[in-house]
Amino acid sequence: MAVTTPTNTLIVGDNLDVLPTLAPQSVDVVYIDPPYNTGNGFAYHDRHGTGVERHRMWVDMMRPRLTAAREVMANHAAIFVSIDDNEVAYLRLLLDEVFGERNFIAQVVVNLNPKGRQLGPFFATSHEYLLVYARDAAHCRLDPTSAETVKASDFPLTTEDGRQYRHLPLRNTNKKFNPITAPTLHYPLWGDPVSGQVATARFEGAHEILPVFGDGAPAVWRWSAPRVDERPDDLVCRVVRGKLGERIDVHQRDWLHEGRRKKLPTIWLAQEVGSTDTAVAELKQILGPVFASPKPTGLIRRVLDCFADDAVVLDFFAGSGTTGHATVLANLADGGTRRAILVNSAEPTQPGSSAEVAGYATVSEVTEARLRAVDALLGGGLVVQGVPAAVGEGEQSVAR
Ligand SMILES: C[S@@+](CC[C@H](N)C(=O)[O-])C[C@H]1O[C@@H](n2cnc3c(N)ncnc32)[C@H](O)[C@@H]1O
Repeated sequence: MAVTTPTNTLIVGDNLDVLPTLAPQSVDVVYIDPPYNTGNGFAYHDRHGTGVERHRMWVDMMRPRLTAAREVMANHAAIFVSIDDNEVAYLRLLLDEVFGERNFIAQVVVNLNPKGRQLGPFFATSHEYLLVYARDAAHCRLDPTSAETVKASDFPLTTEDGRQYRHLPLRNTNKKFNPITAPTLHYPLWGDPVSGQVATARFEGAHEILPVFGDGAPAVWRWSAPRVDERPDDLVCRVVRGKLGERIDVHQRDWLHEGRRKKLPTIWLAQEVGSTDTAVAELKQILGPVFASPKPTGLIRRVLDCFADDAVVLDFFAGSGTTGHATVLANLADGGTRRAILVNSAEPTQPGSSAEVAGYATVSEVTEARLRAVDALLGGGLVVQGVPAAVGEGEQSVAR
């Protein structure tokens, strides 16, 4: 019988011991959701020092772990770190220090609590953050687009044979690009607003059209003349009404096609990625209400969607195992072969926490129980192991 690699590998141990055992540069994407230093009574320990010392102690805990994580990231990899207002400012500076400010990609706002926290004295906080850094921004293979956010209603026009599209100005609307900065893109096109035909050379019934801004200032096209010649059917000549009255212009027909993706914004809404409430419900359905602060699988799936479908994923603060669950769901959805390495320490569950009340002695028992439930329900397989011997000690490393 062929041996298949399981989707999920759970390594039980302190991530500071585990990370150096993983093969260097073997991971494509890291997602982590470390303790936020709230001092709350979650299943796990969430207070790193008190008073003025607490930020320093939290940063001292995170620094060697992020440094070790950087070593296992491939040159094209990126890291996504969930965090809230308690430590976001300190984490941003720490990530700048470990990864370099030039490798900062985004500070995404994630609307995980759409109703907002009603308990505080001021605003009802309804979001947290996802800090995104590349190991090396120049080679990063993160594709920040999604097919999920493409709306058919954004393509209101339809051809006779039923293809949907929208008009985009062929003129470059960014004022940085003009005949001085991009002289080769300032050239005349020929178009007929009756037939819609566009060409680079004069034809019967055509008007000469130069690119102009709304105020009449000279502009440039977005396409070179050879590209116009290659794709004349994707262009249309139309009469438009601007500030200065009617003029003839050229538009691109931008098609709604199979596999079309759209750039992701830096605000991720609960309707799109789920909320803490939906995450608790997901966990309850598969295992029971045993972890107070899981992330929704939709959030992790959006992260995974930015990478190839055979990505090696690492989460070294695995908690209830959401990243492993999301990885199996993503593979089922698109036939991908992603693999996830999940790490959680066997720290004792906090007395009185829902995990402890449910009979779990350690947090990693919760991680394992969820990943076993995911395997039983959806497949994918699971390997559970303790801290492997460090790479270089003659042992097989976990990732590729
Ligand atoms: C905020 S929770 C992660 C929740 C997770 N994202 C989910 O959706 O369930 C943080 C986790 O990190 C674990 N943890 C904290 N310090 C750790 C360490 N040094 N090594 C491994 N795991 C650790 C805690 O036990 C806890 O489960």
